Amino acid sequence: MARIFAGVATSHVPAVGAAIDNKRTDEPYWQPLFKGYEASKRWIAAAKPDVVILVYNDHASAFSLELIPTFALGCATEFPPADEGWGPRPVPTVQGYPELAWHLAQSLILDEFDITIVNKMEVDHGLTVPMSLMFGEPAAWPVKVIPLAVNVVQYPPPTGNRCFQLGKAIRRAVESFDQDLEVVIFGTGGMSHQLQGPRAGLINKDFDARFLDRLVSDPLALSRMPHVEYLREAGSEGVEMVMWLIMRGALDDRVKEIHRFYHVPASNTAVGHVILENWPPE
Ligand SMILES: [Fe+2]
Repeated sequence: MARIFAGVATSHVPAVGAAIDNKRTDEPYWQPLFKGYEASKRWIAAAKPDVVILVYNDHASAFSLELIPTFALGCATEFPPADEGWGPRPVPTVQGYPELAWHLAQSLILDEFDITIVNKMEVDHGLTVPMSLMFGEPAAWPVKVIPLAVNVVQYPPPTGNRCFQLGKAIRRAVESFDQDLEVVIFGTGGMSHQLQGPRAGLINKDFDARFLDRLVSDPLALSRMPHVEYLREAGSEGVEMVMWLIMRGALDDRVKEIHRFYHVPASNTAVGHVILENWPPE
């Protein structure tokens, strides 16, 4: 049986990818941020997952306003890095896992989650930055990746509750796959940030700290938080954090917090990161 044994939440700030690609990680501005991920790289290197289900949002790279799937599951054999305006990031092409991805599609759709199946897709910083933060700069990514792109760009995004319930359905799907696989699920985006309008630059450290606490210990209540609270407290782009609830829904009710990191600023965004293992950790 396949199983999801851990979850990772992390911001996916595009400037973080640029700092890595331009060899600027040791600069005083960036060094504290990358230091916060050193333990994470050690953890995942030791955990050696076979597969990462990577929940992220596309930023008008694979999709546009012409087509806006709420949940888009990548079932292809590979996903090249997208050109976001300055050339594709110099990172390896992501290797998919079509057999498991199609199993997830079947299980989720029969479980009444009407996801979109994607057989060709480029992946942008939303997916590649978390990969770089967790795995560094290898010649090839050491895991297969199943991308799950969530619309959090164009209103209306899915509710926190829908995301939390989808996480539970993903867990059921993974556990009904008949191969022995160790799976980690990533939820990415956030934390508080607003990119435009009079409140551009908004950061809310208190809200972010509370969000992390509730994500760990009271995710059910957190999943009921309405969009307007994300927007008011965490800025217009803070609603990306509903994606963290997909990750959390796929884990046990009780989890062990392995690592937590919070840092401001990274570009104009608060960076948050947490690693959770099912309880008891094995
Ligand atoms: Fe984003």
